[in-house]
Amino acid sequence: MRVELLVTPDCPHAERAEAIVRAALTSDGREPVVERILVGDLDHAAGLGFHGSPTIRIDGRDVAATPDLPINLGCRLYAQPDGTLSGTVPAEAIVAAVEDSRQRAADARAARPRLRDVPARLSRALFLWASRRHGLARLATALPLTRGMVRRFVAGDRLEDALAVLERLHAGGLRWTVDVLGESVASREMAATAADGYLATLDALAERRLEANVSLKLTQMGLDIDADFCRQNVARIVDRAREIGAFVRIDMEDHSRTDATLAIARRLHAGYHDVGVVIQSYLRRSADDVEQLIRERVRVRLCKGAYDEPATVAFVTRAEVDASFARLAERLLADGRYPAIATHDEALIDDVIRFAAANGINPDRFEFQMLHGVRRDLQEGLVAAGFTVRVYVPYGAQWYPYFLRRLAERPANVLFVLRTLVRERRG
Ligand code: FDA
Repeated sequence: MRVELLVTPDCPHAERAEAIVRAALTSDGREPVVERILVGDLDHAAGLGFHGSPTIRIDGRDVAATPDLPINLGCRLYAQPDGTLSGTVPAEAIVAAVEDSRQRAADARAARPRLRDVPARLSRALFLWASRRHGLARLATALPLTRGMVRRFVAGDRLEDALAVLERLHAGGLRWTVDVLGESVASREMAATAADGYLATLDALAERRLEANVSLKLTQMGLDIDADFCRQNVARIVDRAREIGAFVRIDMEDHSRTDATLAIARRLHAGYHDVGVVIQSYLRRSADDVEQLIRERVRVRLCKGAYDEPATVAFVTRAEVDASFARLAERLLADGRYPAIATHDEALIDDVIRFAAANGINPDRFEFQMLHGVRRDLQEGLVAAGFTVRVYVPYGAQWYPYFLRRLAERPANVLFVLRTLVRERRG
């Protein structure tokens, strides 16, 4: 930590200011190093951004700063805790600034990518890159050898495949949301066909008296073609949902679609309250979005986020994404409307359970959500412990990008792919 005391040569407060800084800095037992800088003339002061003597600067930040002061060589007065003004910085402000600097340093260390994270980052980046390649999608969907691997995460090509999975979930006391796979459609016809797929799914669920709960992506409904067309297309699904009492969750895609997705979700929610949306804890903006959705009583599914996002909009390290998840989960549990905590991360799930218990939040006020094919043991364990667990069940022929994102989530999945390829080639 770099501590500077900037004073004019004749400053009457210099000695006392240095004594206070030293006392504040020794509070943790370390010998402080305070660099005294004498500010001689106005040019020098301007070069240092000096607004008066004494100035205490910790790691380049002025303590008790008032940045709009003019550059000058006179004495500076500081507000004291008792309301008076005095020529020295209050000790409390120095202690707080020292603490703040230590915290910043710790955050910066945590944000620095670690060497051991590199293979995981590379495989994640590779899978996410491949998930966006349409040529690879055509190739992969044509190859029979990928089928067995895909089946781990995708119920199958047909609605009947999904219904068979739901029957099994039902028997195990689990709930579900059904995703008719597809995203980034290229034409209005494809978008309309995708919406028809959802209508057929809702009807099939209602006919079989299975809980009608679906999740959809707006790029599958034509968001990239025309946002208004997309909203009308989804509105057809929401209208049917209203008729049969179903719930519609709008999945969240990459950050370039966040604003449009939230706007459409809000508008549809205004007409039918059983429309919910998804928030990704890796996005820096999510704390604000969560507060607004809490105020609007929109149901939120909280997840970490599955896309490849730049550091300008998203947290980079796992520690930051997890800390954000924990904070957002607490806000949603405390004040949100029946939030869905979507993760397989046992540490975060434990945090949620502890927070709910400590704050008298009954398990019937929230649910856990997990993906089909991931941590079935955990899903069953939570149900046995009295929690609601909803499984995200995708089906359909457009499985490629969804499958690649699942592979990207876990470095060990690279081995899974390689092992399966070898096995399927032999078999
Ligand atoms: P994390 O990735 O830290 O995994 C924790 C543990 O879970 C791993 O150690 C491993 O054991 C297991 N695990 C996780 N993923 C696995 C995988 N693919 N294969 C094998 N094991 C795995 N994202 C998004 O951007 N928009 C969305 O709308 C949604 N919707 C959504 C719905 C539901 C119900 C879930 C559960 C998730 C999403 N996601 C999503 C995906 C989410 O953002 C995230 O990518 C995954 O859930 C993986 O992150 P975890 O929270 O599980 O933690």
